[in-house]
This record gives sequence, C-alpha cells and structure tokens, in this order.
Amino acid sequence: MTILSLPLQNHLFSSTALPKPRRFPLCATKVRMSLQESAPSIAVVGVTGAVGQEFLSVLSDRDFPYRSIKMLASKRSAGRRFTFEEKEYVVEELTPESFDGVDIALFSAGGSISREFGPIAVDRGTIVVDNSSAFRMDEKVPLVIPEVNPEAMEGIKLGMGKGALIANPNCSTIICLMAATPLHRRAKVLRMVVSTYQAASGAGAAAMEELEQQTREVLEGRPPTCKIFKEQYAFNLFSHNASILSNGYNEEEMKMVKETRKIWNDKDVKVTATCIRVPVMRAHAESVNLQFEKPLDEDTARDILKNAPGVVVIDDRAANHFPTPLEVSNRDDVAVGRIRRDLSQDGNQGLDIFVCGDQIRKGAALNAVQIAEMLL
Ligand SMILES: NC(=O)c1ccc[n+]([C@@H]2O[C@H](COP(=O)([O-])OP(=O)(O)OC[C@H]3O[C@@H](n4cnc5c(N)ncnc54)[C@H](OP(=O)(O)O)[C@@H]3O)[C@@H](O)[C@H]2O)c1
Repeated sequence: MTILSLPLQNHLFSSTALPKPRRFPLCATKVRMSLQESAPSIAVVGVTGAVGQEFLSVLSDRDFPYRSIKMLASKRSAGRRFTFEEKEYVVEELTPESFDGVDIALFSAGGSISREFGPIAVDRGTIVVDNSSAFRMDEKVPLVIPEVNPEAMEGIKLGMGKGALIANPNCSTIICLMAATPLHRRAKVLRMVVSTYQAASGAGAAAMEELEQQTREVLEGRPPTCKIFKEQYAFNLFSHNASILSNGYNEEEMKMVKETRKIWNDKDVKVTATCIRVPVMRAHAESVNLQFEKPLDEDTARDILKNAPGVVVIDDRAANHFPTPLEVSNRDDVAVGRIRRDLSQDGNQGLDIFVCGDQIRKGAALNAVQIAEMLL
C-alpha cells in the first residue's frame, strides 16, 4: 500500500507536543464496507492543503456517503499517491474537466482558484461548497453556518438538476457566531466587539511549518526564517497579515463585520473587530463583548450556551479553567467560557465571553461537510 508523503504531514506528525490531525492519511484505519453506488460523487479541490486534509478526516469521521472522490490540487502535486479509507488515490491536477460527473465539490484552494473554477464547476452541474472568500458577499450565494442559518440554502439539493454555489464563512466569523447566535436569538445583539487570537493553521500548512521552524531557530539562537509572515512569529504576536483597507481595518476584520450582517440577515447590527495572529499552532480564540436589546443575565446565558448545538461550555471559575486552543484542537465543538456580565453596561444589557474553536475543523472543513450533508 503506497502512502502519499504530503508536506503537511511531515510537519503535523513531527512533534508530539503540537496538535495533530485526527488520523488521515498516515493511519486511515476506517474502512467502508462498500462505496455506495447511489451516493454522490465528490471532488476535494486543494486536497493537499491544511483544509483539504481536514475535509478527508471529516468525511471519514462522519461516514459521509460517496460513490467516488476525486483528489484535486495543483500541477505540483499531480501524480502523488495515497490511501484513504483503504482505497488508493492519485492526486489529479485541477482542470475544467475535473468536474465532469461530480455532484459535490469541496473547494479549499484559495480565492483565485475558486473564482476561476467555481463557476466552471457550477456550469457542469456541480454543487460547490467554497471555503474561500471569493463568493461570500455575493447576494446570490448563501453564506451558511448550519447551526445558525440553514434556511439560507433552502431549495438547494442534490438532484435538483443544476449546479450551485454555497459559501463557507470566514473561520473567525463561524467560531464567533456559533457562540453569539444562541444569545442573539434570545436577547438580540445590537453591538459586538471582537478581539481575535488567531493560530498559524488559519494561514495554511506552510504557516504552521514556519512557526515550528522559527521556534526551533529562536531557541537555538539563530535568526528566524520569515517566508509566509514578514515578522517574527515565534515568541511574538502581530496584527493579522490580511491587507489593510482604506478605513484602517484589515480584510479579516471587515469579513467579520460584513459576514455577521449577512448571516444574521441584520444589516443594522454593529460589529467591530481587531484580529491578531498569535503563535499558536492550531485553533483560534476570540474575546467577544456583546450589547443586547433585551436584558440577559449571565446564568441564563450560560444555560442557553450549554444547550446550544455545537457549543460546549468550559467556565470553571473556581479552578480558573476556561477554553484554550489546545483543548479544542481537533474537536468539533466550539468552547465558550468567561461568561460574565459586562460591568461597563447598565443592568444585564451586556456580556463578555471567551470562545475557542478549531478553525480548520468547525471554521472550515466540518462546516463545509455539514453543508454538504444538508444537500443529501
Ligand atoms: N486554514 C484555515 O483554517 C482556513 C479556514 C477557512 C478557510 N480557509 C480557506 O481555505 C483555502 C485553503 O486554505 P489552506 O489553509 O488549506 O491552504 P494551504 O494549506 O496552503 O493549501 C492550499 C491548497 O490549494 C492547492 N492549490 C494551490 N494552487 C492551486 C492550483 N493552481 N490549482 C489547484 N490547487 C491549488 C494546493 O495544492 P498544492 O499542494 O498542489 O500546491 C493546496 O492543496 C483558502 O482559501 C483559505 O482562505 C482556510
């Protein structure tokens, strides 16, 4: 049995102290009794990347039904072989013909690839679930978190006889709204102030490699190699590497502002964000301050969050134990803690919460596969 040696693997499996992917592909132990002939054919675009690899783990973990999977990446990776669920695959170069006969395509190869190949796939009858920002703000494209706004993709189903595009929101937006939405439904959020602490994995496999390499270099007294980020990442933090816009916000921050309004279908909700890259390997953390229209006390908020799908509450004040990126790495649930009344607001009109979520998983691959499940 030949197993593909992906660059990502070399990195992810190289240290015992770092959060690892769940299984795929070094020890893809799960075996399907049979591929299902009536199930959809799938394509994973960007299969060699951080999100692409996670797509495979999630598909396997959730027993997503499929009759075939095309493994697509750039020309650089074409021809590489690996085993997934006891079947051998060869990575193919992405071309327009890649989508012939494909029912669902999971895209994670960056915005320019999505812009070029997304419409091509749709024209060939494929339903595309796209992880990039290319189509998120397109009015005709649903932007979906299944626990939050499943109604946005109503009517889009396999077998409807045509292709479609569905966008996966930005990872920081997903993690934030998984926690904020249940509270919003009860008390209506008027204003939300978010500060993020974003992991290397959010910038892809190469950024994770850079953090690991720099950490070694700094500990050995050598100058850190800066290729992905222009500043030293190990033992440092800096403003998110997304481009700065004319209003002084960076693109990542404005994604949180605009996507929240679209997902909540509320153009008046006030959102501001400061996004920071921190030297954490995997999983984002976010401090979220909420201002409500109706009063909401912290005990009620805690109960609402305990019962929210996809959310787990870690809020142990006695032990001073709250969510951490390490605890949520490779986990599906978003963790919420530090649930407390905002003293700066009158009565129970405001809350502070601290949220952690694995952004490769719920912030990208898991959310996209959940969307795909809703197509069946
Ligand atoms: N990382 C996250 O947490 C996260 C979260 C949400 C959304 N996203 C989005 O998901 C996308 C991928 O992110 P990532 O973190 O997985 O990046 P990554 O680790 O750098 O992987 C990029 C993938 O895209 C493929 N690719 C690059 N150029 C291509 C081309 N010309 N044709 C076909 N495939 C090509 C790469 O294939 P090769 O190996 O052949 O180069 C690789 O499989 C981005 O749009 C990102 O914004 C990422």
